[in-house]
Amino acid sequence: MKPKIFVTRMLPDHVMEKLNDHFKVNVNPNDRVLSKEEIMRGTSNCDILLCSLSDTIDSDIISCNPNLKGIVNYAVGYNNIDVKCATKLKIPVTNTPGVLTETTADMAWSLMFSVARRIVESDKFVREGKFKGWAPKLFLGADIYGKTLGIIGAGRIGIAVAKRTSGFNMKILYSDDNSNIENTIKAEKVDLETLLKNSDFVSLHVPMLPETKHLIGEKELRMMKNTAILINTSRGAVIDEKMLLIALQKNWIAGAGLDVYENEPKLIEGLIECDNVVLAPHIASASVETRTNMGMIAVENAIAIRQGKKPPQIVNGEIYGK
Ligand code: GLV
Ligand code: GLV
Repeated sequence: MKPKIFVTRMLPDHVMEKLNDHFKVNVNPNDRVLSKEEIMRGTSNCDILLCSLSDTIDSDIISCNPNLKGIVNYAVGYNNIDVKCATKLKIPVTNTPGVLTETTADMAWSLMFSVARRIVESDKFVREGKFKGWAPKLFLGADIYGKTLGIIGAGRIGIAVAKRTSGFNMKILYSDDNSNIENTIKAEKVDLETLLKNSDFVSLHVPMLPETKHLIGEKELRMMKNTAILINTSRGAVIDEKMLLIALQKNWIAGAGLDVYENEPKLIEGLIECDNVVLAPHIASASVETRTNMGMIAVENAIAIRQGKKPPQIVNGEIYGK
């Protein structure tokens, strides 16, 4: 008999097909986030839970099924899961690193371009029939070429963002307590304060951890140049959104490009009134190729769990011993 997998969201077709080859699939048929009760019901009656980053998988859910064999997250970030609890119960938790690195880096750049060159405002202007001809001061933005890019968090995605500067003659600063990338790319490691004070573009690529919560708050926003643009494709709570709103309203910084929010999918009141911010609905990994590849990794993880093997992308590898 095929093992049972509970899938909280419908995934791309190829992924669902592959899941069906290996599992008896119980999938949420509706394109919406399930309630805690619904996730609990599904989890209590499956071998493996396949969840996404908008599902909060807390200890109640993890412990509701003593036979749960694994939690497979359809995301690289896994701050939505109580990994500590899963580890205590010896339940493997997996993620999908690697495949979304380049796609997420593309998105960070898309936001940089959009904010710097005011693409969204311009589009709206044209659609509203306001374009009456070329004008010397119409939608003046900022150059990217020759500027300084500050990368906060120089992991896979941060490095991929930095690498895309070749051709833009940019200076790269980065801050990261754990990594040195000088051998990979021409970049200068500096402390956060130096980075914030000297960068024209600041892009966030840290994971969501207690120590990265509100990494960018009032003090940091005030350190930034008033011409600087802040880009966030990591997790919303890395920025203190309340202070960011004030920074945008009072022009402490020139603009921001956001793909993630502190209380997703809710936005802080006032943000949508700001013209100097470009807002995307958490789509950094949303290319057809990458969302399929993420699914394939998730399926490989699930298959390994089912076979009692250590999954290829394990978050809490310690449960398998050394
Ligand atoms: C996306 O935000 C992810 O963590 O995969
Ligand atoms: C992104 O894909 C990462 O692995 O950090």
